[in-house]
Amino acid sequence: MSETAAQRTTPGTDLTITSSDFTKIHFTHEQIQARLAEIGAQIDSDYAANPPLFVGVLKGAVMAMADLQRNVTLPIETDWMAVSSYGSGTKSSGVVRILKDLEADLLGRDVLIVEDIIDSGLTLSWLLSNLKSRGAKSVEICTILRKPEAAKVTIDVKYVGFDISNDFVVGYGLDYAERYRNLPFIAVLAPHVYSE
Ligand code: PRP
Repeated sequence: MSETAAQRTTPGTDLTITSSDFTKIHFTHEQIQARLAEIGAQIDSDYAANPPLFVGVLKGAVMAMADLQRNVTLPIETDWMAVSSYGSGTKSSGVVRILKDLEADLLGRDVLIVEDIIDSGLTLSWLLSNLKSRGAKSVEICTILRKPEAAKVTIDVKYVGFDISNDFVVGYGLDYAERYRNLPFIAVLAPHVYSE
C-alpha cells in the first residue's frame, strides 16, 4: 500500500486512516478499473440498441457510477436514488424507505441499477420490484461486490464486479460509520476498528 493511499487525515479532526485499519487490500484501484472496463464494454454491447438509464444508489455507488460510466460509450442517462433500510446496526431488514427519489420517469425505459455491494440482497430485491412497478421496460443490476454467503434472497444480477466472502470490506464507496468511502481501493477492515 502506498503511503499516500494508506494515510489520509481528515481536516479539522484527529481522524487518520492508516494501514493498520485494514487486514488486507482486497482489490486494488487497478483491479477495480480493469473489471469496470470489461463490464463497460459488455454494457456497450448488451444495450447498443437501447441505451439504459443508470440509477446509482447513494451513497455507496458514487465511485462505481463515475468510473463505470467512463467506460461506456453509449448515450446513457443518469439518475440517483437514496434509500435507507430499517434494521439493527449494519444489518438490512428489507423494509426500505426512500430518502431521495428519482427525477426520471421510468415508463418504457431500460434501467440499470448500480450498487457498491449486495449483502443480504434485501435492499436490491425491494428496489427491483419498486422500479419495475413504475413501468420500466427492464430493470437490471450492476454491483461492484456481491457476498453470496450472506444472501437471504435470490436476485438476478446482470453484472458483478467480484464475488467475495463475508469479510467486512470498506473503501471505493463502502463505509464503516461513514468513513473510508474515499479510499480508491477496497480493503478488509481490521476487527479492532469496529470493536473499539
Ligand atoms: C449498502 C449497499 C446496499 C445495501 C446492501 O447500503 O449500498 O444498498 O447496503 O445490503 P443488503 O444487500 O443487505 O440489503 P447502506 O445502507 O450501507 O447505505 P450507503 O450506500 O449509504 O452506505
